[in-house]
Amino acid sequence: MCGIVGYIGKRNISKVLLESLQRLEYRGYDSSGIATLDNNDLYLCRETGCLENLAATLAEYPVKGNVGIGHTRWATHGEPSKVNAHPHTDCENNLVLVHNGIIENYAELRNKLKKNNHKFRSNTDSEIIVHIIEDYLKKGAKNLEEAVICTLMDLKGAYAIAALNKNEPEKMVAAKNGSSLILGIGKNEIFVASDASAVIPYTRQIVFLEDYQIAIIEQGKFNVINLNGNNVAYNVSLVDWDIDSAQKDGYAHFMLKEIHAQPKMLKKILSEKFNSDNFSLKLSEFSKIKKYSADINQIVIQACGTSFHAGMVGKFIFEYFVNLHTDIEISSEIKYKHFIYSKKSLIISITQSGETADTLIALRQLRRKGLRTISLCNVVGSTIARESDAVFYIHAGPEIGVASTKAYTAQLFALYSIGIFLGTLKRIIKKSLKSSLIKELTFIPSLMHKVLASEQQIAACAKKYAKYNDFFYLARGINYANALEGALKLKEVAYVHASAYPAGEIKHGPITLVCKELICVCIVTESSTYEKMLFNLEEIKARHGRVIAIATEGNQEIKNYADDVIYIPYVQEIFSPLLVALPLQIFAYYVALARGCNVDKPRNLAKSVTVE
Ligand code: F6R
Repeated sequence: MCGIVGYIGKRNISKVLLESLQRLEYRGYDSSGIATLDNNDLYLCRETGCLENLAATLAEYPVKGNVGIGHTRWATHGEPSKVNAHPHTDCENNLVLVHNGIIENYAELRNKLKKNNHKFRSNTDSEIIVHIIEDYLKKGAKNLEEAVICTLMDLKGAYAIAALNKNEPEKMVAAKNGSSLILGIGKNEIFVASDASAVIPYTRQIVFLEDYQIAIIEQGKFNVINLNGNNVAYNVSLVDWDIDSAQKDGYAHFMLKEIHAQPKMLKKILSEKFNSDNFSLKLSEFSKIKKYSADINQIVIQACGTSFHAGMVGKFIFEYFVNLHTDIEISSEIKYKHFIYSKKSLIISITQSGETADTLIALRQLRRKGLRTISLCNVVGSTIARESDAVFYIHAGPEIGVASTKAYTAQLFALYSIGIFLGTLKRIIKKSLKSSLIKELTFIPSLMHKVLASEQQIAACAKKYAKYNDFFYLARGINYANALEGALKLKEVAYVHASAYPAGEIKHGPITLVCKELICVCIVTESSTYEKMLFNLEEIKARHGRVIAIATEGNQEIKNYADDVIYIPYVQEIFSPLLVALPLQIFAYYVALARGCNVDKPRNLAKSVTVE
């Protein structure tokens, strides 16, 4: 899982490559590098760590040329180090290549190449690709594209690559299978990137390459061919994202900005999905859902991480609003399951990036079984969006912080909208109930503002507990998903151990860990399980555990059970996950800040997980 870029044109080559890589840094930041060609001279610069390190080295040792490629890495094969940083070169330093993905048969190919006297400098799977290209050129391939095509036939696995040849200095060849790759078409200049966000400051004309397509790019022109070497047709799409939202707008971190963006974002989504005058659904928004769901008897949601937690809430929503049995599956487990779903199942894939390999592979597998698939994606034109029968965009806008915040509540919002739509379609929800549910949703943005107004109180609470190393997150019912999400946020950004449990479960084992060093974040908002939660709080207090309660405004009783209370406004239980998510996000953010963590770029993580 890495980001790759390429450029052919007249701009300052290192500036354009660095800027494009910066916008892909969410895909990994273990190391980075660029290579450029200036006539027959090859320049190569690589560094470990963030792009700042690469920029500093480039300032000292500038590169030249009108053609270049770049890479930002999230290590899979081989530790994060300078030798394992891309771009990689062949034995003779004539060829240079960047790769995103994983080559599954790399060990076998590497052994074969070693027997043919190829010398490897890195421990990566990627380096073998450039050596295979070298072999084919030596064996008589007439140019870089022909050698690349032959090479692709040898590779098993996922890849997006861009390659240069010193002996064809005005050309770049790029190809993909499984990993995403786009071309950005400018005036007399062409960009290559893992996704469109890397190039939108320069051009919004985007070609989304398909698997096994090879782009041959030269000064101001390009063509796309298939593995037979024949030209293929392509579409140029206009991407209309708002680049301003990629700035921090005065917030210290993208994560904080994105937490605060949630009320405005939901207000905008509301106006897109619902008619505000009569609290009805804008049916055109749901037509694709209708097409694939008329006769369904079951829903299966598949997703990873935060998107999986949104899916857990989705299960409650669909069972409550649509009266349909709903399963929720972790994408990476689907491949190994004996699947018993009928053709009347509707598969819903939830993914912010639309590129998560586990989710994509599960989607492909389910489609091969003939199941219909809808995806809830944020990134427009992403692979999962394109490969599903229908896509329902969640419209969270670009999410830059690696830890997902606003995409989570946008995913929840999409699930509520679809739940209300399907419930109405299946006549489970009557017209009057539908209007009152939509009306309640319209209040959510202003209620979120109220939660955000408690930011400083939550920050003080976070600071108080930041030195502790063990947390439980406890809830019952629909908010158990939020307990998992709160614990995940704390682990991700603050590097603190946190486990989430349905509160009733702690007496079956985890209660042995309760002591005064254990902090229990308990979701005790007004709900059908409120009384039961109080019993659990008693159990914790009796064993000297410390309790931070997230409770409903006005509840004084809870103070008898908790060391600290964070209040949120009242909302009916089914919608409560939308509000409960916010204090959990803010709490994790401020614990991370107090512990001096890199909030927007947590160690070992990447925004888009494009490996299995
Ligand atoms: C957590 C987080 C990850 C992602 C997961 C799935 O903050 O960001 O757990 O939710 O990697 O990613 P998407 O939604 O892009 O499929």
